[in-house]
Amino acid sequence: MEEKPLSPHVIIFPLPVQGHINSMLKLAELLSLAGLNITFLNSDNNQKRLLRYTDIHARFANYSGFQFRTYSDGLPEDHPRSVDRAWEIIEATNLSGGPFLKELLTDIRPTVSCIIGDGILGFLSDVAKKHKIPLIHFRTASACSFWTYFCIPQLIQAGELPLNGKEGMDRLLTTVPGMEEFLRGRDLPSFCRANDINDGFLQLVMNETVKSSEVDGLLLNTFEDLEGPVLSHIRTKCPNIYTIGPLHLHLQTRLATANGMKPSQSSNSLWEVDKSCMSWLDKQPPQSVIYVSFGILTVFTREQLMEFWYGLVNSKQRFLWVVRPGSVGGDDDSTKKLVEGIKERGYMVGWAPQEEVLAHKAIGGFLTHSGWNSTLESIAAGIPMICWPCLADQQVNSRYVSEVWKIGVDMKDVCDRKIVKKMVNDLMVDRREEFLKSADKFATSARKSISEGGSSWGNLDRLINDIKDMSSQAHSI
Ligand code: UDX
Repeated sequence: MEEKPLSPHVIIFPLPVQGHINSMLKLAELLSLAGLNITFLNSDNNQKRLLRYTDIHARFANYSGFQFRTYSDGLPEDHPRSVDRAWEIIEATNLSGGPFLKELLTDIRPTVSCIIGDGILGFLSDVAKKHKIPLIHFRTASACSFWTYFCIPQLIQAGELPLNGKEGMDRLLTTVPGMEEFLRGRDLPSFCRANDINDGFLQLVMNETVKSSEVDGLLLNTFEDLEGPVLSHIRTKCPNIYTIGPLHLHLQTRLATANGMKPSQSSNSLWEVDKSCMSWLDKQPPQSVIYVSFGILTVFTREQLMEFWYGLVNSKQRFLWVVRPGSVGGDDDSTKKLVEGIKERGYMVGWAPQEEVLAHKAIGGFLTHSGWNSTLESIAAGIPMICWPCLADQQVNSRYVSEVWKIGVDMKDVCDRKIVKKMVNDLMVDRREEFLKSADKFATSARKSISEGGSSWGNLDRLINDIKDMSSQAHSI
């Protein structure tokens, strides 16, 4: 009797931090929707938070081939798992994730068609090679930032790194192909500011990024109309690229297409969502509110918080501000008191349903840290941005927002109430038309890319077919 072929089975392994889990879960749902079996690897710590704050089990209950498997991230319970410790999170995951994955594969190897893993996790290549399983890297940040990571060896060779003080920060760089006209030292990823090129984090990102040219494919949460020029440079090194974003919009569209399932919005959160801001927004005039959120990892000093607060208040514009618990030095309670004085124009929450907020008709602008998910969510909603980048890819994203896409302004390295006020007014009033024109254009092309016949739609179909091929090849060995 002929043996029944096994269904394609993908292991998904994100770096265990919110921004990465968020987009990887969306990918997991898209692949599940296409009938693939998925094993999603999550750290114990993040799994607990995901279960506490989301309806994740109910959402994935629709997919019989989906399962979570959890591992210990190897960090002490009270570890903050915050930005200044990103290095420790990656190191700990390399130590604990590798053995966990090897053990898992020993159990389930015959059924695994491929691994889709975070490109920053170095052990994945070794494990995939040892078990002869195809590996696709998923880099959850922008293509433009990925390309700057990729070009770090050339920057070092040309003496453009280290940056060497203020002069180096403001100088245009010559060794990132395609960016010669606008990329300055200060627009490079934050870890390029290290004084020593042997800095551990710089070396780690550089070494792991070039490995993406050796794996079976590279997945990016972006779309061709947005990052086409830089993608053509990346393709010279990594020929098999799947651009399938914006993932949040893509997932909504595919869910709606398949059996009219209700679109899911931002329910991959590791924090408790305060939905009260939605009824506050309902009472505000159209496009009158600037949404302020600095993502998951940004931490402020109290002085920086006050500069933003005065800038926003003095701008006389309405604002909805997310102040994440623990994001400000000092106590959060006194932060809440700040907003009590300006109740009619300002509203503050600890964590917002961001995708819903950005899609609300009252929102007219976004003051953001330029994390890639936030940037894409804003682009998809056609909302212009003020960028105050904090780390890593965000420095590059913000330069693209202001100089390439022209959908906002870049406030990098400055935190001054007068500039905050000016930029808020530029975005909401004085230069509004100019920004809206470009923002509308990209929002339209974002929607086109994830519609049937669009580039991201086609690339996801190609990815699914390639995984099916990998599956049949694995089983014929
Ligand atoms: C960082 C990087 O900058 C990012 O590019 C990388 O890929 C992941 O790590 P992060 O701080 O996680 O960024 O920001 P971002 O990528 O913007 O993700 C934040 C996510 O949290 C977004 O999907 C956003 O919708 C969500 N969010 C944020 C909420 O749901 N509510 C909030 O109040 C704030």
